[in-house]
Amino acid sequence: MCGIVGYLGEKDAYQIIVKGLQRLEYRGYDSAGVALINGGVNLYKCKGKVSDLIEHASGKDKSGTAGIGHTRWATHGEPNDVNAHPHKSMSGNLALIHNGIIENYASVKASLVEKGFKFQSETDTEVLVNFIESIYIEESVDLPEAVRKALNHVVGAYAIALIDKNNPNQLIVAKKSSPLVVGVGEGEFYLASDATPIIEYTKNVLYLEDEEIAVLTKGEEMRLFNIKKENKTPYIQELEMQLEAIEKGGYDHFMLKEIYEQPRSIEDSMRGRILLKKGIVNLGGIADYEQKLINAKRIIIVACGTSWHAGLVAEYLFEDYARVPVEVEYASEFRYRNPVLYENDIVIAISQSGETADTLAAIDLAKSKGATVLGVCNVVGSSISRATHGGSYTHAGPEIGVASTKAFTAQITVLTLMALHVAQKKGTMPASRFRALLHELAGVPKLVEKCFEEDEKIQTISARFKDAKNFLYLGRGYSFPVALEGALKLKEISYIHAEGYPAAEMKHGPIALIDEEMPVVVVANQGPSYEKVVSNIQEVKARKGIVIAIVTEGDVDVKAMADYTIEIPKIDESLIPFLSVIPQQLLSYHIAVMRECNVDQPRNLAKSVTVE
Ligand code: AGP
Ligand code: GLU
Repeated sequence: MCGIVGYLGEKDAYQIIVKGLQRLEYRGYDSAGVALINGGVNLYKCKGKVSDLIEHASGKDKSGTAGIGHTRWATHGEPNDVNAHPHKSMSGNLALIHNGIIENYASVKASLVEKGFKFQSETDTEVLVNFIESIYIEESVDLPEAVRKALNHVVGAYAIALIDKNNPNQLIVAKKSSPLVVGVGEGEFYLASDATPIIEYTKNVLYLEDEEIAVLTKGEEMRLFNIKKENKTPYIQELEMQLEAIEKGGYDHFMLKEIYEQPRSIEDSMRGRILLKKGIVNLGGIADYEQKLINAKRIIIVACGTSWHAGLVAEYLFEDYARVPVEVEYASEFRYRNPVLYENDIVIAISQSGETADTLAAIDLAKSKGATVLGVCNVVGSSISRATHGGSYTHAGPEIGVASTKAFTAQITVLTLMALHVAQKKGTMPASRFRALLHELAGVPKLVEKCFEEDEKIQTISARFKDAKNFLYLGRGYSFPVALEGALKLKEISYIHAEGYPAAEMKHGPIALIDEEMPVVVVANQGPSYEKVVSNIQEVKARKGIVIAIVTEGDVDVKAMADYTIEIPKIDESLIPFLSVIPQQLLSYHIAVMRECNVDQPRNLAKSVTVE
């Protein structure tokens, strides 16, 4: 998790680092810190957000043109001032920031304690910096070599940046399973966990590969090698990202901006992929695996959280359109079983960040069993996009709010296109239905736009229920995953307990929860299961539950029985998640704002879960 930033050059390092940390704060925010080289290594760090760090450091001398900074998501040791990064080595000469987990830290620490090392914090990171120092001193090697030796010994995940008081012109960085990007400017270097803190300074970047170490020296070319001591040629690429894409653009929160960006992000995710005149779908990134996808006897989808919900939608889509069985797996469960995989299986990994550790590990496992793995990722160049054989990017643009919104609709855009493509190639769908769906899909952005017209009504509903203790979300068929997603959104950002359930399953248990205090959000659009959902609404009403129904515009029947209704436009049943999720995103957003919760950075969460 956590965000890493660094700078080495002629400019004021503190300003650059702190600005970068603010951009990365979505990754972790339980403590923050900066180390600057200026004579010695000066540390500024404290529990809390980057704003707390700024306050903590105010009035102190923060000059220096080289430094590193960190915003933490604690794994080892509670969030407090001492456990905050950077961590100094015992001599005080080295300072390290780290994203990830050193799994064998306890044994390394024990051997260091025997040698007389003393520790201030409970972190695995302080163990690593002392371990590097011990090798540096005992083996009389240079610092990059000490880092290499240390990394050969440690087990786990890391993105690290190290500075040395005695070598103010040098910054050493390395990574394994956690992301790290180096920005290359004119005689200067930037580094960060993702490119967002870098793009305003330079578009030339290097995405470090696993087990690579880069030695950055002011005014010189970078030196790149791996932990086996093999020299590498840095592949510097040009970023396409625009600065505006990562700023709030007048919205109060990133989440709201991202909700409202969906017409555009869905459009961007289809651009060039729907060829209406030719009546085909064009997905270049999976072209090489097309035949395998068509021949697949089974598709297994691995993902976590919201991406897992998008996977559930894909299950309905692939089975419905392309008549291929689909299993949707939590990546974290899949990897620790001994899953049965057949030669003709296709694994699809879905991930916004492309860095989720469990999903990455599931991909490795699937690959080791010979499966073909395709990715649906949002972050170009991310670890998952590189680990998969092929795939299609979602072009949602940077998603900063921790609660995923536009990534979900972009994922189902790409997955709908994939399922349609396979259906057409396999001949499992009449040509007329294929064309009709393609047209409807192309029209989704406009319909999403229409959903926003209900925002005021949703605010009124939010004000009425902001103090509820529990919420139930119900949906059938394609709207069942959306019910799960609606409940997750509410839990994440408003801390209200919420459950998502298939509407018909309610009577097998959760119906016991219903009383006059319980708001029940039901997706009751007109479609194949409309009558059944109407009966489920009756069941809720008979127990005095409060029904907030998401209905097709012009609906009369549900309106007559529900307490509140929110309209969405009419659309083919298989495309309903695009629309039914919008009111649920807005409802959770407004409730969270009204409860004065930190919408973009909910407690205990982080945007990219790069630890298991
Ligand atoms: C969603 O709102 C979440 N914060 C979370 O569940 C997220 O979807 C999950 O961690 C997966 O992330 P990924 O898509 O980046 O792999
Ligand atoms: N394991 C380290 C710690 O607990 C780093 C966690 C992070 O990635 O923020 O401090």
